[in-house]
Parts: sequence; structure tokens; C-alpha cells
Amino acid sequence: MAIKHFLQLNDLTGDELAHIFERTRWIKEQFKAYQQYWPLSDRTLVMIFEKASTRTRLSFEAGMQQLGGSAIYLNTRDSQLGRGEPVEDAAQVISRMSDIVMIRTFEQEIIERFAANSRVPVINGLTNEYHPCQILADIYTFIEHRGSIKGKTVAWIGDSNNVCNTWLQAAEVFDFNVHVSTPPGYEVEPERANLYGTDHYEEFEDPMEAARGADLVTTDVWTSMGFEAENEERRRDFQDWQVDADMMRIAGKDSLFMHCLPAHRGEEVSAEVIDGPQSVVWDEAENRLHTQKALMEYLLLGKVQA
Ligand code: CP
Ligand code: NVA
Repeated sequence: MAIKHFLQLNDLTGDELAHIFERTRWIKEQFKAYQQYWPLSDRTLVMIFEKASTRTRLSFEAGMQQLGGSAIYLNTRDSQLGRGEPVEDAAQVISRMSDIVMIRTFEQEIIERFAANSRVPVINGLTNEYHPCQILADIYTFIEHRGSIKGKTVAWIGDSNNVCNTWLQAAEVFDFNVHVSTPPGYEVEPERANLYGTDHYEEFEDPMEAARGADLVTTDVWTSMGFEAENEERRRDFQDWQVDADMMRIAGKDSLFMHCLPAHRGEEVSAEVIDGPQSVVWDEAENRLHTQKALMEYLLLGKVQA
């Protein structure tokens, strides 16, 4: 099988992603029933982190161990990556010593260059531009709670960041709609809008109108990693882009709330919403584990039948 990478959500087809969701369900059931499933025994995952993480590290490391393999953590501070070793050289070496690699870094270009020089599959664990593993878990969580996402409406409130961009890609692949509301100056970059989602996305000046009738309301931090210098300015600019109880009422009582986490109560979301009955954030976080196990199984073994 040719090497498949997962650098952006649409690197895999709708059919491949549907297969991963089927496998997720089975792998999750096995895990919950304490059934051992070790299809990746003797396989090694290398995880490279150039930014902080709780969920991504934990879900990949635990996930690989639960599939019978092992995981090695590298960060910029303790490896030669932080001392200027070219990413192409690192890719050559790391991919000769491992079976699969996950990278969390800054520009998407870095991960593309790594993958171009890798002998093994590379997974995007978050870049400035995209967070495909997050949306894999989010859509799986939506399906668990509400069934197919096809034709549904997702309201994105806040910054048009890596998570938002990936929702726009997902809307094309899974045929649903995204309503985006950002403060002025933080809109989706036109080239991304043109590339991913012209038929499936609409921008709203008023966040309440974006949320009206939405099946899912979702948001993320006002300041993503790497943009900390803009923190104060963003705090002022994003004041009116908080998901609160009024917004969830306008969305409707059956609307779900998601957040990739970590969250800031009182900023992008009120405590009442994230800790309230419409919030599925803990299921969403847990599903990072199950969906990524299915993803690694697929990238390493292809379509495994139950
Ligand atoms: N949602 C997410 O990717 O969380 P971490 O930054 O903790 O990995
Ligand atoms: N948009 C956030 C997501 C963190 C999981 C960031 O890039 O920091």
C-alpha cells in the first residue's frame, strides 16, 4: 500500500473517513469491554511536539499502547529539532526508526516538508492552519449523539483558526453547512473559503444569527498557541463572541455544544454552557483516543474488517 499521510482532513476521502468511523465504534466497544486488541504490536509511533498539549499527547500515546505498540515523545527543547536540524534531515532519520509519526508544529509547510521526506505515514497533530484529528473526533461525537451530520448546520463562533479551517474542509467532505461568525478583522482567509466550502459555508456579522437553529455550536480559544503577543488586543476584539446561554437558546434545545479544549470560562464560552446539559465536551475529548486509534490502524494496516 502506498504511504498515506493525514496532514489535512481531506487527505482522506469520505469513504475512507466513514471506514475510520466504523472502526472507531468497534475499537471503542472493545476498549470499554476490556478486550485486548493489539494489531500494532511491535510498531512505534514517534510524537513530535513543538507546542504544548494535554489531549493530543495523551490520546496518541495511550492509543498506541492500547493497540499493542509503543510511543516516543520528542519535543523541540530536548531534541536537535530546536537547534536548527533541517526538517528534511529529521524526517529521514525519524522515519527510518519508526512506523508512524505525529507532529504538532507551527506552519503547515513544516509538516508538508517532513512528510515529503518520510518513509512512514505522518499525522498532523495541529498546525497553525489545521487540526484534522480534532475534527475527526468532533464529527464522530456528533454522530454518536445525533446520527449523520449530512445536511446539518454547525455554527462556528470566534476566531477563524486551525479548528475553524478544518471544519470548513469537513463540510465539503461530509456535506453539511458551517455558519461562521468572527469579529471584524478575524474573518476566514478568502483563499481558504474559496478552496474549502464555498457551497457549504456562510459568514455572519452577528454571532447570534450564526447560531440560530444550528445543530451544533462550537468555538475555541480567542488566542491560539503562537499568537500570544496578540492576547490583550484579542480579549477586547472578541468580547461579543462568547457562546452563552442566550446563544444556546437561539440555537435551540437540541443543539449540542463542543469545544476542542482547553477552554477559558468567561471568555469564549460561559461556564453555564460548557458545564451545562447541551455540552458534550468530555465525550469529544475522549473520542480523540478512539478515533485516532482507528486512524493509526487505517494508515498502517489499511481497511481492516471486524
Ligand atoms: N484539543 C487539543 O488538541 O488539546 P491539546 O492541546 O491538549 O492537545
Ligand atoms: N486553536 C487552538 C487549538 C488548541 C487545541 C490553538 O491552536 O492553540
